[in-house]
Amino acid sequence: MKFPKNFVWGASAASYQIEGAYNEDGRGMSVWDDFGRWPGKTWEGATGDTACDHYHHYLEDVAIMKEIGLHAYRLSIAWPRILPEGTGAVNEKGLAFYDRLIDALLEAGIQPWVTLFHWDYPLELFKRGGWLNRESSQWFAEYTKIVVDRLSDRVQHWMTLNEPQCFIWLGHGNGMHAPGVMLPMKWQLIATHNALLSHGRAVQVIRANSKKQPTIGWAPVGVTRQPQTDSPADIDAARRATMGILKPDLWNNTWYSDPVLLGHYPEDGLHVFGADVPKTPSSDFDIMKQPLDFYGVNIYNSLPVRAREDGSIEECKRPDGYPITLYQWPVTPSCLYWGPKFIHEKYKLPVVITENGMTCHDWVGLDGKVNDPQRIDFLHRYLLELRRAVADGVDVRGYFQWSILDNLEWHEGYKYRMGLVYVDFVTFKRTLKESAKWYSEVIRTNGANL
Ligand code: GCO
Repeated sequence: MKFPKNFVWGASAASYQIEGAYNEDGRGMSVWDDFGRWPGKTWEGATGDTACDHYHHYLEDVAIMKEIGLHAYRLSIAWPRILPEGTGAVNEKGLAFYDRLIDALLEAGIQPWVTLFHWDYPLELFKRGGWLNRESSQWFAEYTKIVVDRLSDRVQHWMTLNEPQCFIWLGHGNGMHAPGVMLPMKWQLIATHNALLSHGRAVQVIRANSKKQPTIGWAPVGVTRQPQTDSPADIDAARRATMGILKPDLWNNTWYSDPVLLGHYPEDGLHVFGADVPKTPSSDFDIMKQPLDFYGVNIYNSLPVRAREDGSIEECKRPDGYPITLYQWPVTPSCLYWGPKFIHEKYKLPVVITENGMTCHDWVGLDGKVNDPQRIDFLHRYLLELRRAVADGVDVRGYFQWSILDNLEWHEGYKYRMGLVYVDFVTFKRTLKESAKWYSEVIRTNGANL
């Protein structure tokens, strides 16, 4: 039982969560820089002003990735570093930072997998309506072109958007994330529509301008459901729940993936959202639906469901005392079996797990080590399930651990540690956790040690 030859073992991070240097070398402000300054919005008023100071420690971080043996590193580009106003004047020093980072990665034998947008939206564009503005996909295309022109001689792996479900719903629905607005569903669906258009235009731009043959995907949330039992009826209920829109909220897969991969909104979603669905030209779907090379997906947990007698789907209560992470996320290893399986069945694309990981109570022990046996056990269990998916014929091409470094967990600030590497946020000292050493072995043996 092995993973396929050429399976990509990686780790991920995102610009705002690790870079710091928020006002250096001409970087503009993002909605997150602003939001972190609103009273009471982030835990203990945390901002990404310094974060892991990766901007200055990137060489050390790349050396750590090399030591772990990562094949690939998933990073994101900070749009306001490249275009401080979101459009218009290009900040050469911002591009130069990513030049240096990419060169260091390649030098270390690590493939850069680049996400174009992981939530640090230019504040100036938010003032112009942000994702609500129909022009927003043009802005994103303009930004993408600049990045691709500059980096595609070295970067081959691209992801457009990270988790539209989160930046629309948490950012524009319940207001927990930047930009912190609370809009009714009608407006959230407009923002979603423009984000999906942005995805499509960005794919077009990458294909048209890459200097190397690109491999293009995206990284939405994998909203997965798992069957309560192995009965065919429960499995079918889990499939329908994973690929359905059962209630009017944005926490689903298909409202995003159907337009992007099939060229239309799903019927059940049109029904559920009803009059809130934006009236838009049908040609928009020709833009959204672009050929993709892989379906990147961030999967952390899933909810068990079962089929009732009449075939309808019941969401099951979890058993009392079920395992849970520090972030209060349930530990459900088989989401890495069912998630990729259902996605692959429906969309027929190779799947890459672009994020998976857990928060633990990590600290540096008296022995100088960061002992995180729970993370090791968590990863072990999840990877066994991913391997089971592979054994069952699901085309899974890679796995990226979230995250390479402890970092800023958005509105939760520095409360939760999710890294393979412990970061002291005062001194910026890095310490490899025991899980990083364990993960090295997984990579070295291509999962044969699991
Ligand atoms: C995400 C976010 C990450 C989070 C991680 C843990 O893509 O959800 O992309 O930035 O830090 O998922 O919540």
